[in-house]
Parts: sequence; structure tokens; C-alpha cells
Amino acid sequence: MFSGIQPTGNLHLGNYLGAIKNWVALQEKYRSIFCIVDMHAITVPQEPAELARNIRLTAATYIACGIDAEKNIIFPQSAVAGHAELGWILGCITPLGWLNRMTQFKEKAGEEREGASLGLYGYPALMAADILLYKTTHVPVGEDQKQHLELARDIAGAFNRQFGEFFPIPEPMITGPATRVMSLRDGLRKMSKSDESDYSRINLTDDADTIALKIQKAKSDSERDVTANLENRPEAANLLNIYAALTGNPANGNWRGFGDFKKDLAAVAISVIEPIAVEIRKLTKDTSYLDSILKKGSERANEIAEKNMKEIKKLVGFPVF
Ligand code: AMP
Ligand code: TRP
Repeated sequence: MFSGIQPTGNLHLGNYLGAIKNWVALQEKYRSIFCIVDMHAITVPQEPAELARNIRLTAATYIACGIDAEKNIIFPQSAVAGHAELGWILGCITPLGWLNRMTQFKEKAGEEREGASLGLYGYPALMAADILLYKTTHVPVGEDQKQHLELARDIAGAFNRQFGEFFPIPEPMITGPATRVMSLRDGLRKMSKSDESDYSRINLTDDADTIALKIQKAKSDSERDVTANLENRPEAANLLNIYAALTGNPANGNWRGFGDFKKDLAAVAISVIEPIAVEIRKLTKDTSYLDSILKKGSERANEIAEKNMKEIKKLVGFPVF
């Protein structure tokens, strides 16, 4: 199993419910690699010192959420050269027509399409390389990554047809009750690290008061029956969905309006996130511990990657010395 998150800031409740919480459950069953995809992060400009800090913060977050750093491999993508090497090879068999369909590129490039980087455009080929480099079979992600994963499957198929069966076709695992957590300010936009309003998301580093305040200020409506007719009430549906995902039970309490419900939701969110936040704060102070985890993870990842890269190079016709 392989998955990754970009080290571009605080991880939030969407990353937790859509991805990391599932990883924690799945790490028992699968041999797992959890990558910090710093090469994906630089597809848009990053301040170097902040990127370096965010890589450690992301490692700390994985561990604080319950990823076992001994049993699994945790490492930064840039430390294993195979990602860039295979990314290039796969980029050479990926038609522009496939890349042009990617909605994330369209969103991230925005109006300024001509100013977007080659890296941002080729991002999905690098993501396919991340997965295929380890001959991954399972990829747990949130719903927004579905299109990229379908492309990774197509690229794996294209490689196998052209050079001989080598890559397993990776299975997306988009599971759990909250595969798409929405912004607290707008129920039609996904919760995101890049939203300019910090009130749009609950960060995994937020303290109890901040979580309570963000939930209290979250957009809702004046419906007294919190759970009624959710189809046309995206904000209400999102808050109820978060409640259900955090408690593991359907949200069907006897709430009298949102004031009442939000108190319960805040208590539940604090009970889950505060222990994680405390652990993240503790771990981020111990940079030598985090660096030792990342170094060991890189060595273990590199061992698998180098072995597979040799096979891939032979198939492509590159010399292997
Ligand atoms: P990113 O922060 O874009 O690197 O995303 C890392 C992982 O978190 C991916 O598996 C995403 O699908 C997942 N993810 C990000 N935002 C959300 C969200 N709002 N709801 C559910 N999953 C999410
Ligand atoms: N593109 C993913 C995101 O933004 C992160 C990612 C990069 C990833 N490589 C991956 C996820 C490989 C799963 C597998 O969320």
C-alpha cells in the first residue's frame, strides 16, 4: 500500500478523515509506505525554509495520528531518486490528451494557465510514478484523488502494453464515511490547506478553544430539525457527516437547532483532535527523532525503489551497470 500528502502547511480534518484515519486502520493489513510528497509540493512556489519545516510537521502528524514509524516506511519523496526517474519515463508515455482532462490542474492553474509550471501539468505522471515505483497494489486516498488514480491505472496499462507486463494495476481505496470533507465556510468547496480563511478548516494542530470557535462560527442554517432534508443543505450535511465520521455512528441525536448540535460536535472534535495536536507539538520539538525516522524510511524505500528501477530500465532499454 502506498499513499502520500503534500507538505504544504497544517494538515486538516479532511486529510485526517479522508486519508490518514484509513491508513491507520489499514497499516495492520498491508505492508505500507507513507510518503511526504515534497516534489509534488514544489509544483507551485514554496518558501524553502517553510517547506523544510512542513516536511517534519507532516512526518510528526503521521506519527501523532497513529502511523507506526517502525513497522511502516515514512519518508520524503525527494530522498528517493526513483520517483523523478520513473516520473520522466512515465511522462514520455502519457499523452497530453490524458493530462488535459485533469480537473486539479485546471483548478490550480486557474486563469493564469500560461504561467503554470510544467511540473504542475505533469503532476499526475509523477504521482503514477510514486505508486508504481513500489509495484503498489492499494492506494488509500480521499475522493478528490480519484481522477489521478484512474490516470495512474491507465499509465500502468500503457507501460505494460508497450514494454511487457510489469506493474500491477493499482486499486484505489476511497473508503470511510468522509471521503470528501467540505469547507466550514462553504459546503460546496472542499476543506483545503490553501483556503485563505483559517475558519474554513480544522487543523490537526488546533487547540480546544480554536476548534470550538471554528465550529461555532461554521456556516449552517436556521432549520430547527438539524437532520431534515439534507439534499439541499450542503453545510448541514457536511457538519453531520463530520460528526458521523468522528463518532463512527450515524448522526441522529435529538438536537434542538444548530446551537445545540454544534456544542456536541465541538466536544467530539476536540476529543479526537486535541490528543493529536498535543502529540504533534511534542514531536515537532524533537527534530533529531523526526530526521532519524525520515532517514531510515528513505533508506528502506530506496532499497525497494532501486531494485524495481533496475528492472524498469532494462525493460525500457536503458543500460544497467
Ligand atoms: P493533499 O492535502 O492535497 O496532499 O491531500 C492528501 C490526502 O488527503 C489525499 O488522499 C486527499 O484525497 C485527502 N484529502 C485532502 N483534502 C480532503 C478533504 N477535504 N476531504 C477528504 N479527503 C481529503
Ligand atoms: N496528489 C495527492 C494529493 O494531492 C498526493 C499524492 C502524491 C499521492 N503522490 C501520491 C497520493 C501517490 C497517493 C499516492 O492529495
